Formats: sequence, C-alpha cells, structure tokens
Amino acid sequence: MDANQHLTLTGLFGHPVRHSRSPQMQNAAFREKGLSFVYTVFDVLPERLEAAVESIRVLGMRGVNVTIPHKVDVMNYLDRITPEAEMIGAVNTIVNENGELVGHNTDGSGYVRSLIEETALSLPESKVLILGAGGASRAVAVSMALKGVKEIFIANRTREKGDELAARIASYCPAHSVSYEDLPSLTNQVQLVINTTSVGMSPNIEETPIDPSLLHEGLVVSDLIYNPRETLLLKEARQRGAQTHGGLGMFIYQGAEAFTLWTGVEAPIEVMRKQLEHPTK
Ligand code: ATR
Repeated sequence: MDANQHLTLTGLFGHPVRHSRSPQMQNAAFREKGLSFVYTVFDVLPERLEAAVESIRVLGMRGVNVTIPHKVDVMNYLDRITPEAEMIGAVNTIVNENGELVGHNTDGSGYVRSLIEETALSLPESKVLILGAGGASRAVAVSMALKGVKEIFIANRTREKGDELAARIASYCPAHSVSYEDLPSLTNQVQLVINTTSVGMSPNIEETPIDPSLLHEGLVVSDLIYNPRETLLLKEARQRGAQTHGGLGMFIYQGAEAFTLWTGVEAPIEVMRKQLEHPTK
C-alpha cells in the first residue's frame, strides 16, 4: 500500500476487542473491492465512550462497529438512530454522514439475510420459536417481526424478559411469550427454532438449550453461536433430519451490511466467509 495514499478509516469500538475477527474480514473485503478503506480495533473504556464517539467526527472516520459493552450506551451520543435500531434498543454500526453520526443495527437484519441466503425457508410462511430474550434475541426478534414472519414464540428462562420482548414486537407480528413447559407442543407447530442463548457456547459444548428429542425432520434449527461451528444443538438437529443453520452467517452478514453502509458497495460475501474460515493474515 502507498504510504501517502489517502485512507478512509473505519473500525470497532469495544472492550475488550483484541480477539475480534472483524478486522480480517472487513480488510479482506476492502482489498477485494479495491477500496482505500482500512478497519482497525479500538479498546474503548466505558467512561471514555463519549470521547471516542466524538473522535469519529474529529478524525473524519467514515464510521465504526460497536460491540460489547457499548451497544446500548452509545445511543446517548449519536445524532440520529434508525427506527430498527431504536426498536432493538442497541446500535452496532455508526455511519458518519458529513458530521452527522447515525446509529444503525445490522445484527438482526444480517441474521435475517443469512437465513434467507443459507436456508430454504419462506419467512412469510414461517412460525418461529426463539429461545432466549437477551440482547441478541432482541435484534433477531425485532428484525424477524419487521420482515413479516407468520408468528413468533419466545421462551426465556426469566419469563418477564420474554414477556417484554413479545410486547415490543407485537404490533408488527403475532408474538407470544411462552414457558419451557410449552416447548414439546410448540416444536410441532413451528418451522424454525432459533437459539439466541449462550447455552452450548465453548467451553460448555456439552449443553443444549432445548431437549434434543423435540427436534425433528422438517424443522430448520438455527444457532447464533459460532464457537463451536457446530454446537451440540445443531449436531443433534442434523442427526434427527432437521436442516441446520450456524451462527457464522449472522456475523458475516452483519459485517456485510456495515460494509455497504460505509462504502455504498455490495459486500463480497464469499471473500469474507473464506477469510474467516481460512485466515490468510
Ligand atoms: P446476548 O447479548 O448474547 O443476548 P444476554 O443479553 O446476556 O446476552 O442474554 C443471554 C440470554 O441467554 C438470556 O436470554 C438468558 O436468559 P435469562 O434472561 O433468563 O438470563 C439466556 N441464558 C444464559 N444462560 C442460560 C442458561 N443456562 N439457561 C437458559 N438460558 C440462559
């Protein structure tokens, strides 16, 4: 790269951030498209978040991704927030529009896009069971509701959080908070089961968020977890004849949508996927 070349700066604000795979993925995408953009990580302490956001304007950065623990608090420092991010209650992508900082959320929409691209589901005809009602679930449930799925059931260990999330999306799609005891009858009604909880994530890879005997052929079973690549839930689902959908697609497409918001260019999905599966740098 020419040292005098003008570079447009993007990156990631989080704490901690050093293990993020986003720089490899985004920089591979910029290279593929011949864009003189660069993406790097910034470890931002919570008490310095406001100053870090201001630095986007000061330095003329094109934007950043935002991750744990800043996705909710960062909303206080932005000029505008998209209706979808507002409804999710979190921002994962900031775009600097000539000094106006706009907060987007590409987690839920990225997830929905990965489902459309990677499974045979017809979303308008799908009833969906979502396990969990935390931050990731909010993004997925809101985007699924806005996309117009047929019906959503939410099962969460802490029932009140499921109630709150169902109420939040109910004006866009029929939505119900259910108990774990309802799962045996529900898994025969729905077409899609999504795990948004952390159950089954490395190192606790022997756990499943639902009794695997409830999974069967004809279901699509989706897990937001991508470490391990195939969770025990997905393995059990696959062995019972269900179609499975892993969490890597959500990570790729949330990044792809951020890439497009910053560059105006369609993201090279396969290059991004390959970079994650077989890192070259
Ligand atoms: P994230 O941002 O990844 O969604 P989160 O907001 O902390 O993380 O949400 C974690 C989700 O996993 C919650 O739905 C949580 O259930 P509670 O609301 O009852 O805490 C769920 N979860 C975590 N560990 C769990 C477990 N052992 N069994 C069932 N649900 C669990």
